[in-house]
Amino acid sequence: MNREQWKSQAGFLLSAIGSAIGLGNIWRFSYMAYDNGGGAFLIPYVAALLSAGIPLLILEIGIGHERIGSAPLAYAKIGKKWEWLGWWAVTFVMFGIVLYYTVVIAWCLNFFFLSFNLGWGDNPDTFFFKEFLAVSNGPFEIGRIRISILAALVVIWGLNWIILFRGVQKGLELANKIFMPLLFVLTAVLVFWSLSLEGAMEGIKAYLTPDFSKIAHPKVWIDAYSQIFFTLSLGFGIMIAYASYLPERADISKNAILTGVINSGYSLFAGLAVFSVLGFMATCQGKPVSEVVSQSIGLAFVAYPKAVSLMAGGNFFGAIFFLCLVVAGLSSSISIIEAFSSAMVDKFNVSRRRFITTVSVLGLLGSIIFTTQAGLLWLDIVDHFLTHYGLVLVGILECVLIGWCFRLKSLRKHINTISSIKLGAWWDGLVKYFVPAVLGIMFFGDLYHEVTHPYGGYSWASVILIGCGWVVLTLIAAFLIAARRWKTDCHKAGGRTC
Ligand code: PHE
Repeated sequence: MNREQWKSQAGFLLSAIGSAIGLGNIWRFSYMAYDNGGGAFLIPYVAALLSAGIPLLILEIGIGHERIGSAPLAYAKIGKKWEWLGWWAVTFVMFGIVLYYTVVIAWCLNFFFLSFNLGWGDNPDTFFFKEFLAVSNGPFEIGRIRISILAALVVIWGLNWIILFRGVQKGLELANKIFMPLLFVLTAVLVFWSLSLEGAMEGIKAYLTPDFSKIAHPKVWIDAYSQIFFTLSLGFGIMIAYASYLPERADISKNAILTGVINSGYSLFAGLAVFSVLGFMATCQGKPVSEVVSQSIGLAFVAYPKAVSLMAGGNFFGAIFFLCLVVAGLSSSISIIEAFSSAMVDKFNVSRRRFITTVSVLGLLGSIIFTTQAGLLWLDIVDHFLTHYGLVLVGILECVLIGWCFRLKSLRKHINTISSIKLGAWWDGLVKYFVPAVLGIMFFGDLYHEVTHPYGGYSWASVILIGCGWVVLTLIAAFLIAARRWKTDCHKAGGRTC
């Protein structure tokens, strides 16, 4: 089979960075740093990046390049009985994460337009939860579809479809070559604008003043590792698929290091804008920063709109902020859909274009549940389970499979022959022992917490049905797809031979 390839290594690098930089960099990182010791959090964070993030990125890019295939194909080439693991990774992102991730991008698109006339009115809190989402009383009270969200969702899936339909070079690569520079410029405008606001320094102080006493707590370390896994899109089979489009000579370790460092640098930089704005708002309202701070959707859809309404020229500031979220989100969502589609093309030899169209329609339909009045509640539960358990389990199994059931040394040799930065035996140790151990600690820590406190105060029934149900259904789907016959012979070939 003729595999598509990136036009340039820069195209690959920008696409890998595009997948890594997403909503999480803007609204998750900065709060996590603030909550976990400010500047001192950088110690566990950088440690997590160096000891787990970059080594696993090298592993995923290396295996995708050496086996030349999406995750299921790459794993099937290691051992037929492992193919399901690749399918699990790509199905739970495709039929889990991307379904609600695109809905959040659709909210951002709505808020982009609302920014121009500050359409959230005087009370963004009530507007967001009561008017915009009209959240119902419980996950089983579905209510109606929110039409403005659905309309934006159709646009987002349409964009995903157009980009992916055009293929690797003219679609993915071109889109990321436009999106990433655009995102960096827009973010720089936000950072410099927000630093000039009154009270910005109060916010920056709250964000970065180190509190070294915090880093003695294990929770801070666990948070650092889990942020690194999520932010680098590891364990989803994405980097494996992207690396399979690399030419034979590609500098794997350099690309992995650059992706990791640029992604984390971006988070740190974007955090300056987040906290300057919070500092500004605290100063306007005469409150301490600790009273105005919030994270994830509370930050983007409540705190930011409040601040934007107080600012001169705030409507443009708001529009740029929400545009950043849309761009960062889109470059991540296309990577998820690509990981799944490339796996289907590898196995069933389906026409890429036809498949992209089908999967985009299915994705749109699947996302609809998250546009209903119970959408926020479903999103919260599904996200918790997939990112805490699905992701961590796949990560552990990935390390076990490649570290223990494959010749890790020969993979390292392959990477070292073509990369400018050489790996030593320490890398094998990290992949085989350290990373699975850290993930194992995270997994059991979360499980213990889960059993003692049902997640988010929801009923056990909803947590088990929706949360665990989603994890189990995607696992069953993975086994079913893995059991189907291959329509290509690629899986029979070894490494770089297919
Ligand atoms: N890395 C992205 C972020 O930080 C999230 C993401 C999740 C991307 C899953 C792709 C797949 O927001």
